[in-house]
Amino acid sequence: MELLSTPKQLMAYCRNATRPLGIVPTMGSIHQGHIELVKQAQSECDTVIVTLFINPLQFGEEKDFDSYPRSINEDSEVLSSYGVDALYFPETSLIYPDGFSTSINVYGPALPMEGLTRPGHFDGVATIVAKLLINSGPDNAYFGRKDGQQLAVIKRMVKDLEIPTNIREIDTVREADGLAYSSRNNLLNSNQRLAAPILYESLSAGKMAFEGGERNPLVITGVAFEILEAAKRKGLLFTIDYLEMVDLMSMMPWSSGDAMLAGAIRLGDIRIIDNVILVENNIDGISREE
Ligand code: PAJ
Repeated sequence: MELLSTPKQLMAYCRNATRPLGIVPTMGSIHQGHIELVKQAQSECDTVIVTLFINPLQFGEEKDFDSYPRSINEDSEVLSSYGVDALYFPETSLIYPDGFSTSINVYGPALPMEGLTRPGHFDGVATIVAKLLINSGPDNAYFGRKDGQQLAVIKRMVKDLEIPTNIREIDTVREADGLAYSSRNNLLNSNQRLAAPILYESLSAGKMAFEGGERNPLVITGVAFEILEAAKRKGLLFTIDYLEMVDLMSMMPWSSGDAMLAGAIRLGDIRIIDNVILVENNIDGISREE
């Protein structure tokens, strides 16, 4: 596995790479969700680059950035064992040198939910993803549905700026008890870890109501809320940031078409997000390429 540490090295590597070229942006602390992205990329591309950059621009509170798990040596070993062609691991000062003054500001899908709870977060995501796409010029870039709003924001940006890269997506990868893999899961203590799957359980209940024919967003979110409230009554300790049923592309309140039921809860200092996708006539997985 080639190690690339500067934007210039990345650009030179990509110029000479065998096409199709795929890029998998991550913030490291590699888990099974990231690995599935890599596998998907490998099945569609001749060269696969993973980028690992803990992007300070997308963190609100400094303590969240400081406590974000870091495990570069293990990450590098794991990625190499999966046959990744190159790992891009730049220093922050090379990505945002003194005087850096540019920000990509996406409106629309970036505004509700995470946009309200984490002001500036999606500007940080859009800025780094745009930079990575411009520097590497890949045919495909791979993202997870786990961060459904992030995916909608990135698709919107790529479309609006006409960046010539296909955005490819994979389903959320989950642990046996339903909890979506996330780098932040490593920060949960044992009680929080036991409580964490309640979010997916509640979203799944909402999805079941939808699949049973229910179409009123208030009823569907109500079903999910009730699962969370019942868990609280039983003593699970968490607070709810939001639970919303939105249009899959625009992230605006749902009225028809494909939807996402998304939620965020806080377990102590740790915030977890998850979502399920609600598609009419969904028999076996989904197909929602644009
Ligand atoms: P990170 O949280 O490391 O996630 C990297 C990619 O892995 C994202 O596309 C995310 O949606 C996907 N992913 C994470 N957990 C997943 C899971 N359980 N199942 C499927 N996919 C999963 O998301 C980011 O980093 C950053 O915001 C980034 C896009 C790299 C920009 O800094």
